[in-house]
Amino acid sequence: MLRFILLASFCMTCVTSVYGGTPIAVPDTMAERVKACTICHGAEDKVGRDAYYPRIAGKPQGYLVNQLRNFRDGRRYYQPMAILLENMSDEYLYEIAQYFSSLRLPYPAPEQIPMQSEEIELAEHLIYVGYPGRNIPACSACHGDVLMGIEPAIPGLLGLPRAYITAQLGGWRNGGSMRGQVPDCMSEIAKQLTDAEVNAIAKWLANQSASGEPRPFSTLLPELVHRCSQNIMANGSKE
Ligand code: HEC
Ligand code: HEC
Repeated sequence: MLRFILLASFCMTCVTSVYGGTPIAVPDTMAERVKACTICHGAEDKVGRDAYYPRIAGKPQGYLVNQLRNFRDGRRYYQPMAILLENMSDEYLYEIAQYFSSLRLPYPAPEQIPMQSEEIELAEHLIYVGYPGRNIPACSACHGDVLMGIEPAIPGLLGLPRAYITAQLGGWRNGGSMRGQVPDCMSEIAKQLTDAEVNAIAKWLANQSASGEPRPFSTLLPELVHRCSQNIMANGSKE
C-alpha cells in the first residue's frame, strides 16, 4: 500500500494527472516532481522537531547526491526511499539534489532537552575540541565552525531531530546495513564514541537553533580532506 501511494504520488514526467476521470493540468516543475519526497521531507508546515525525518533543504548538493545514490544502490537502507529511487538516473538524482540544496525553508525551533552541566561540557569538548589522542578531531573541523556543513559533501549537524542523530551515529557504530556498509571517515569516528558521548552530542545538537550556510571547501584542512576523500570524491565527477 505504501508502495502504491508513493509511486502514485511520484509523477516524474507526467503533465496531467487523472482524478475522477477529469484530467487536471499539473505544472511540470521540480516542486511538483518531488511531492512524493516532501510528504516526509516537507514544506515548513510539516517539519516536526520530534519527527525522525531528516531535514534536507539547504544541505550541500554533493552530500545529497551521495546519499540518494547510497539509498538507490543499497549502501544506505530505508525501503520507502529505495523504492522511489530505484529507476532514477544519476543525472536525475543530481537535479533533485540541486533542488533541495538550493531550497531555503525556515528551521523549526530547537528541542529543549534537559542536560546536566557535565554532559554539556562533554558535548562541547567533542564538538569544538575533539580528542586528538583518540584520533577524534573536533566535529566542527569537518562540519564547519557554525556546524552547518562544508561544501560540497559534508552535511550540517543543526536542525536535525535528536532521534535521527542518535540513530545515524548508532548505524555507523553497529556497521549494519542502515548506514554502515562502507567504512568512511565518519564511521571511524562514530565507532570510537561511547554511549554517553553519543547521547550528550545528540541532545546538545538538537538543542541548538540553526542558522547560517555551509562553509566553502577551502575551510577544510587538507588532512581532513584526505581522511574523508571517499565521501568528498564520491560525487567529484559532478562538481
Ligand atoms: C516515507 C518517508 C520518506 C519519503 C517519501 C522520502 N524520504 Fe528521504 N528520508 C526519510 C527518512 C526516514 C530518512 C532517514 C533514513 C535513515 O535513517 O537513514 C531519509 C533520508 C533522506 C536523505 C539523507 C538525509 C541526510 O541528511 O543524510 C535524503 C537526501 C533524502 N532522504 C531525500 C529524499 C528524496 C529526494 C525523496 C523523494 C525521491 C525522499 N527522500 C523520500 C524519509 C523519506
Ligand atoms: C574527519 C571529518 C569529520 C569529522 C571530524 C566529523 N565528521 Fe561527521 N561527517 C563527516 C562526513 C564526510 C559526513 C558525511 C558522510 C556520508 O557521506 O555519508 C558526516 C556525516 C555526519 C552525520 C550525518 C548527518 C546527516 O545529515 O545525516 C552526523 C550526525 C555526523 N557526521 C556527526 C558528527 C559528530 C557528532 C562529529 C564529532 C564527534 C563528527 N560528525 C565529526 C565528516 C566528519
